[in-house]
Amino acid sequence: MSEKITAILMDGKKTAAKIKEEIKVQVAQLIDDHDEAPHLAAILVGDDPASQTYVSSKEKAAHGVGIISSVYRYPEDTTETELLAAIDFLNEDETVDGFIVQLPLPEQINVDHVIARINPDKDVDGFHPMNMGKMVLGQPGFVSATPAGIVELLKRYKIETEGKHVVVLGRSNIVGSPVSILLAQKTSMGNATVTLCHSKTQNLAEITRTADILICAIGQPQFVKAGMIKAGAVVIDVGIHRIPAKNEQGYRIVGDVDFNEVSFKAGYITPVPGGVGPMTIAMLLKSTLEAHLRKHKS
Ligand code: GUN
Repeated sequence: MSEKITAILMDGKKTAAKIKEEIKVQVAQLIDDHDEAPHLAAILVGDDPASQTYVSSKEKAAHGVGIISSVYRYPEDTTETELLAAIDFLNEDETVDGFIVQLPLPEQINVDHVIARINPDKDVDGFHPMNMGKMVLGQPGFVSATPAGIVELLKRYKIETEGKHVVVLGRSNIVGSPVSILLAQKTSMGNATVTLCHSKTQNLAEITRTADILICAIGQPQFVKAGMIKAGAVVIDVGIHRIPAKNEQGYRIVGDVDFNEVSFKAGYITPVPGGVGPMTIAMLLKSTLEAHLRKHKS
């Protein structure tokens, strides 16, 4: 096994730690100035293990930078009406700067109704139609954390996007669609030529092989193989899956990319875990601080 990989690892854990350090300094400064600490709340419905893990990680990261965190847990059979009431409560709670509703939600709940109910000024996930619209128009608002984290990681690794061909796999509202929009915009981390691929795309590998930057967010374990990428490409892996393994836990974590193959052909690659995931959390904390500062400015 352990032959040295040739790609440069884009260390999301280390980069996120730097961002969290910057946030921690700003939060400490607020407290020194007799302001309150920012407060992030999360609503978690049901007992999906992945969602439980994500929310615990967000909570832990918030505490680490001095952001107050509260988690509201509801059972799997919660009704939409009950969840909307919980959102109204957090919308009204002046001590809460921002909150998220962890997705996915149980099937009896309409996710669009839920997201539309969140006060856009507290929507630190950037999922509300108002924030999505602002992002499309390039206006200030909240940008969802994973796309923001991807862009930030590219920036901190000094990867130019201008004029590059970015291929995005997956058109979800949370990752694929927003990251395509951000990278195509007329901004310093944009100006890319973006191709958005999805389940109906034909000749996928032909397209992915033309990518200078390939963003993989399709939700299929180890889908992207070495034969699908151009040598030297930047490969960003958004996937996170448990697959069976002969180890103590009985599973291991992999992404949408077959790391063992692709890391010998790519120029840069994000590991899973330790790539995009920690960046998402860091950007969520950054948005929470931003929500707090905006509230106090207005
Ligand atoms: N589920 C998967 N990713 C996310 C995220 O970024 N925010 C929320 N609220 N739920 C998610």
